[in-house]
Amino acid sequence: MKRIAIVGLQWGDEGKGKMTDVLAKQADLIVRYQGGDNAGHTVKFDTYTYDLHILPSGVIHPHVISILGPGMVINLETLFNEKKPFPHATIKVSNRAHLILPFHKTLDAKKEETQHIGTTKRGIGPTYSDKINRQGLRVASLLNKNRFIHEANALAALHQIDFDAKAYYELHEKEIIALLPHIIDVSKHLDVAIKDGKTVMFEGAQGVMLDISHGTYPYVTSSSPSVSGIPSQVGMAPWLLEGALGIVKAYSTRVGEGPFPTEIHTELAHQIREVAHEYGVTTGRPRRIGYLDLISLKHAVRVSGITHLAITLLDVISEMDEIKVCKAYELDGNIIDEVPAHIDDLSRVIPIYDSLPSFKEDISKITSYKDLPEPAKAYISYIEKALHAKIAYVSVGPKREQTIQLENIWEASRD
Ligand code: IMP
Repeated sequence: MKRIAIVGLQWGDEGKGKMTDVLAKQADLIVRYQGGDNAGHTVKFDTYTYDLHILPSGVIHPHVISILGPGMVINLETLFNEKKPFPHATIKVSNRAHLILPFHKTLDAKKEETQHIGTTKRGIGPTYSDKINRQGLRVASLLNKNRFIHEANALAALHQIDFDAKAYYELHEKEIIALLPHIIDVSKHLDVAIKDGKTVMFEGAQGVMLDISHGTYPYVTSSSPSVSGIPSQVGMAPWLLEGALGIVKAYSTRVGEGPFPTEIHTELAHQIREVAHEYGVTTGRPRRIGYLDLISLKHAVRVSGITHLAITLLDVISEMDEIKVCKAYELDGNIIDEVPAHIDDLSRVIPIYDSLPSFKEDISKITSYKDLPEPAKAYISYIEKALHAKIAYVSVGPKREQTIQLENIWEASRD
């Protein structure tokens, strides 16, 4: 396959950063297609740990062209800071992506006072709202200083917020001028790259259960992490996408508010949080912990057309005395196997669990599937059968080399 997507199938934080990094070796281009610096991707390389928020996780590979796509919302300050450790990276930014301005963060924080979604307060929702309301600023606005100042001041006035666009532009002027030659028409750039036979990876941020259309609305982000959103968000024909790797953490986590049917409320949650360092990369908030939820995963696989799976953090499962997997929900006395669309209904579902034998041993140094303990293999094949997608990778630790490959997705055929 030459064009693949990599997407989280839960509520974000599934380990997409590490898997993107693992797969980046064979990629020519990596495109982030949605979201902004609300994302937090941790990549460990040699003795370095990089926490990336806006750059694609492939940026640490010098051969990769990293692209920030048209569906993204971009905070220039984050972009300029995050680029610094990668002076040799090739980074291109879409002229159609939207700009997060400082007052978008103010608006986000203000809305949170009453709405309580538990956002990252990075201004994501307000920036996408301005886009949909046809009043936002595209990156293309930066190409002309006076035009930017006029448009940004007008937008601030619309929101009745004091903002000095001239001062903002001039504070970043040096970096903005350096960025100008890298502002591109992403659709056109991709078209040329695809015709040249380049390999392209589309890197999602957040996860399908946070998708504005398919997630646990309203407790979602304001973009579409789901694979089905990629063609429209990057400007590419849908049939050019050949495969989609869904990343599934071996248990569930969620940050922010919103229903979480399989949430664990015992000491086990605390134990897993500490062992796996389950704290938000962007906000530092403790993540909520839960058992694997096959109902939401089946939903995510279906809406995203997932062809392959990567199971991450399998090593952490050894903390559990009993591996519980939610196989159905009970709602008002009825057994259901779908995610209710209304948040009130989703809040009331009772998970029905299967119980699988545990493996209480350290698997973090295992490099081959055959050496995994039998219960670990049974858990993997249980997930594979339930989700009808092929498991290609199993991750047993944060480092690149702690990845068991069952199939190289780049070499898989499209069937
Ligand atoms: P927003 O994207 O900042 O508007 O936040 C909306 C919801 O998405 C909140 O529940 C956030 O905690 C969640 N969220 C946003 N980005 C991430 C992420 O990268 N990982 C996990 N959750 C996220």
